[in-house]
Formats: sequence, C-alpha cells, structure tokens
Amino acid sequence: MSCVIITGGSTGIGAAAVRKFASEGFDVAVLDINTDDGETLAKEKHKGSITFFQANVSSKDDIKEAVDKAVEKLGPPAILFANAGIQRLSSLFDLKEEDVDNIINVNLKGAIYTVLAVATHMREQKSGNIVLMGSDQAFVGKEGSIVYGATKGAVAQLTKSLSVELSALGIRVNAVCPATVKTPLTDGVFRFLADKHFDGNLEAAWQAEADMLPIGRVAEPSEIAEVVYFLSQPTSSFMTGALVPVDGGLTAQ
Ligand SMILES: NC(=O)c1ccc[n+]([C@@H]2O[C@H](COP(=O)([O-])OP(=O)(O)OC[C@H]3O[C@@H](n4cnc5c(N)ncnc54)[C@H](O)[C@@H]3O)[C@@H](O)[C@H]2O)c1
Repeated sequence: MSCVIITGGSTGIGAAAVRKFASEGFDVAVLDINTDDGETLAKEKHKGSITFFQANVSSKDDIKEAVDKAVEKLGPPAILFANAGIQRLSSLFDLKEEDVDNIINVNLKGAIYTVLAVATHMREQKSGNIVLMGSDQAFVGKEGSIVYGATKGAVAQLTKSLSVELSALGIRVNAVCPATVKTPLTDGVFRFLADKHFDGNLEAAWQAEADMLPIGRVAEPSEIAEVVYFLSQPTSSFMTGALVPVDGGLTAQ
C-alpha cells in the first residue's frame, strides 16, 4: 500500500491532479487549508480513494504532522505533487509587507517544508517521485507579479538542487511550469488586470491573455494534471531536475 500526496489539492490544478491520480487507481491524500472544498472532493468516487487532511504548508510542524497522519492512514508516499501556492498582484511601489511574507512563506518555504516532510518517508523506501509546481514565471517576468515570480524562479532552482541531492536516494524531482490556467487563483489575477487595463471588462482581459499565447487560449487544469501524472510515472524514468513548460508556446516566442 502506498499513497500520492498532493498539497493545495482542494481546488484548481491540484484538484484536477487529485481526480487524475484517483481515477488511475491511486489512493490520494489532499493536504490543504481549504477544508470545505477538500472534504467535498474527498466524497467523490473514483477507482482509488481521496482523503482530506487539513494542513498549512507554510508551517514546518503543521505540514509534517499532516504528512505523517496521511502516511499512517494510507501508507508510505510513492508520489508527491507539491502544488500549493498563492498570488497577490501589486506594483513594486504598492507592495504590502504582509503579502511579501505570505507569498514567500507559502510558495517557497511551503515547497521546501513539504518536500522535507515527504522525502523523509521516501528516503526509507529508497524510491519516490516528486513534482513541484513551478510556473511560466520560472522563465519570464510579468507585470504586478514581482514576489510571486521570484518564488517561482526559486522553485525552479529548488527543483534542480533537490534532484541532484535526492537522486542517490532513488527519488526523482521535476517541475511543471504552466502558463495561464483557469482556476480560482487566476480569477483574482484577471480581475486586477481587467480593472487596470480594460475598464473592468473581465472578458476582454481573458481574451487578451489567450491572444498572447501562440496556441490561442489559456489552459484547463486537467491539461496540467496530465503532465504531472506523466512526470510521476515510470514512463518518465530518465527525467529528473527538469523544468517542463506547459504553456501553449508562451516561452517558445
Ligand atoms: N492558474 C495558473 O495560471 C497557474 C499558472 C502557473 C502556476 N500556477 C500554480 O499552480 C498552483 C495551484 O494554483 P491554482 O491556479 O490551481 O490556484 P488555486 O487557488 O485553485 O489552488 C491553490 C490551492 O492551494 C491552497 N493553499 C493556499 N495556501 C495554502 C497553504 N498555506 N497551505 C496549504 N494549501 C494552501 C488553496 O487553498 C488552493 O486549494 C500554485 O502553486 C500556482 O502558483 C498556477
């Protein structure tokens, strides 16, 4: 018996990944601060089970406790998708100290603490697959997204250094780097952009984003979940330390 651990799995890309792994027969532990959506998701019926555990990734103790509970209930973790993340848009001159701290605590420290808690168990098995949630901002800058971009650049570097250190333990580490995906997180982003550039016209803001991508549209969460699944499986056995763009051609330009 083994399990898949997914942080930030209550909504968005994380929830799509939870459904993908559970539909393939894996038992999935969802670790998130969003209890309502997480518990609703856990009621869905798939080939594998879904169990919700409340956890705040920005607290080293909290995430360790939740991971240990998941392992006790579902068995050792074969796969981790460290996906939890937040975005708070602001120009440099309007940055709030609280937002700077929160974004770094969740997106960067959270990824480190999550990997630490899960890899501690994987080390005992001498095997494991870790997928980190990067972003197109591992490669490109974006307006109003200074601190978020900095954390995703850091997650890209984290992926590489972790892959070097954990290879000897039989653990692979890769990152997915999506461009814009329709999720609750981007709802907030596009409200900000609509107000700033499109007189509050949300539809126009989304259309401008789609037009910027060579593929002509933004992504659905399931299109990212499929790549996460591939990176976690033996079919990608020679991949580690890779930053995989899933971006409709954004960074090919
Ligand atoms: N949507 C996009 O366009 C896009 C693009 C590239 C990367 N990403 C990344 O994908 C990941 C998922 O984002 P999403 O777009 O699905 O948004 P989302 O808001 O639907 O998902 C984020 C999840 O993380 C959870 N979360 C937030 N803070 C947490 C904490 N402290 N502890 C535990 N869980 C916490 C939220 O409750 C939520 O369930 C994020 O890391 C985000 O940066 C998103």
